[in-house]
Amino acid sequence: MAALETAPAQAMTEGVSTRSHLIYFSSSSENTKRFVQKLGVDAARIPLHAKDAPLLALEPFVLVLPTYGGTNGEGSVPKQVIRFLNNPQNRELIRGVIGAGNTNFAENYCMAGDIIATKCRVPLLYRFELMGTPEDVDRVNQGLEKFWTRLSQIQK
Ligand SMILES: Cc1cc2nc3c(=O)[nH]c(=O)nc-3n(C[C@H](O)[C@H](O)[C@H](O)COP(=O)(O)O)c2cc1C
Repeated sequence: MAALETAPAQAMTEGVSTRSHLIYFSSSSENTKRFVQKLGVDAARIPLHAKDAPLLALEPFVLVLPTYGGTNGEGSVPKQVIRFLNNPQNRELIRGVIGAGNTNFAENYCMAGDIIATKCRVPLLYRFELMGTPEDVDRVNQGLEKFWTRLSQIQK
């Protein structure tokens, strides 16, 4: 599903680039991947393993990420996402965040989404649990459409 292309010239040895407007991280349990697949839109996945070629965004994107919390929410943002956002170009192009999690984690529910929204100064657009419900899928699809339309009007 991901429209991945080999990065041109200089970035060739450094990673894989994408023009997808939805970028997500999902661990080996793949709940988030299943949610994103249900959206039926083009999306790119942040690599799981350190040995994998890093992902480079070429277009503005919304990030979908699950929370993997430690004590007091520390370490909530998966290290793969930190690595991805440590690239200045990726950080420059993020426009919004959607958080995934599990309500069993109470006050730490979807905390990684809040952390990224604050750090990158972008809106937290939505939260959903595990692989999301059909209602989540509808709301995110409609919300993303409105979000990108509004953003393109502001940036005219
Ligand atoms: C070790 C561990 C820690 C977790 N910590 C949190 C947490 O702090 N807050 C939260 O909302 N969900 C937490 N979760 C739930 C995951 O975010 C949730 O299962 C998510 O759907 C995983 O997505 P993935 O399968 O795409 O990686 C945790 C799950 C695990 C296994």
